[in-house]
Amino acid sequence: MTPSNPYVGKLVNKIDLHYQTSDILQEIELDAMALSDLELLSNGAYSPLTGFLGSKDYESVIEKMRLANGCLWSIPITLPIEEKKAQKLKTGEKVKLVQNHQTYGVMVLQEIYSPDKMIEAENVYQTTDLNHPGVKKLMERPNMYAAGPIILTRIPPKNPSFSRFYKSPLETRCIFEQKGWKTIVGFQTRNPVHRAHEHIQKTALEIVDGLFLNPLVGETKSDDIPANVRMASYEILLENYYPKDRVFLAVFPAAMRYAGPKEAIFHAIVRKNYGCTHFIVGRDHAGVGDYYGTYDAQKIFEQFTTEEIGISILPFEHSFYCTKCENMASRKTCPHAKNDHLHLSGTKVREMLRNGLTPPPQFTRPEVAEILIKGLKNEKNTD
Ligand code: ADX
Repeated sequence: MTPSNPYVGKLVNKIDLHYQTSDILQEIELDAMALSDLELLSNGAYSPLTGFLGSKDYESVIEKMRLANGCLWSIPITLPIEEKKAQKLKTGEKVKLVQNHQTYGVMVLQEIYSPDKMIEAENVYQTTDLNHPGVKKLMERPNMYAAGPIILTRIPPKNPSFSRFYKSPLETRCIFEQKGWKTIVGFQTRNPVHRAHEHIQKTALEIVDGLFLNPLVGETKSDDIPANVRMASYEILLENYYPKDRVFLAVFPAAMRYAGPKEAIFHAIVRKNYGCTHFIVGRDHAGVGDYYGTYDAQKIFEQFTTEEIGISILPFEHSFYCTKCENMASRKTCPHAKNDHLHLSGTKVREMLRNGLTPPPQFTRPEVAEILIKGLKNEKNTD
């Protein structure tokens, strides 16, 4: 597999905005996660998937981290429906995929099945603990899965505060080509870009042509910083601290699963589809709480070759500011003791920002802190 190709060959395109849906009687209501999955299935971000997974693929992904045909795939993309709804549907028929009375797509219903969610939780999230936000979400969603190939018939609404940052994999690929970038490193984040993130991004930028800053802006847990506030913080950071011609910012509209190592693989494959040749996996990638070991999301990539996944993983040690080095560093580059290192947990930083307190400049750029504090204050006022 060559680095610039989409994952396993061709970029899937299942968008038909002229598709006639008015004579389709049955419909399935999509939650926010399913609507974002529909969009990402249709625009090729999830290539080679062409629809919501059937039971064979689902079981194979859960048990072996592979689709039934053997292709590496780590997160099941499923469409949960209520049992009552399942009884009304017939396999072989077309169903409209709707949200709030608006049709966004069509699926040819191939199968309805009843998943074992405990096994799904155990295998994908490595826990069945309902305190895990991904497991909680999994268990809250309806208990039957509907499956089949999809077509997107209407583009889902974009967040108006950052609508110009929505780009499909086809678009990002064209943009990278126009920029003449041959090597592109993808960066996934659901957080503001703090100095540690900046450090690893810029270290990667030393060896590739461009950085694709690709923050996830779909559904996240309630205490994560809202996407509109984060987007404003990314813009000000890029404006002040990054060379304009070496970074491209666009959103990844997926929901966060918090599945740690399994989600890291998924994130890497998706970024390959967006045109990246490299992907950063730092400390506790896509993790939450203490469910995963600090470097589990890096270790999981040892199970297969770079040729198979088709994107090079750039693993980074935990980075921090060292007061003795007076620099960003990691255990690999700094000889000093832990108490010389500035460490603030994500929870602590969010708490500081929500209370209007500015984290030290060695942790967060002042311009970024200002935007975050202002943004979070406005959120509170509009609650
Ligand atoms: S994530 O859930 O989207 O992975 P986050 O936005 O915090 O969370 O992380 C984005 C990327 O930066 C991930 O690859 C993560 O592993 C990495 N990362 C975050 N903080 C650090 C750090 N202090 N040192 C090294 N890597 C980090």
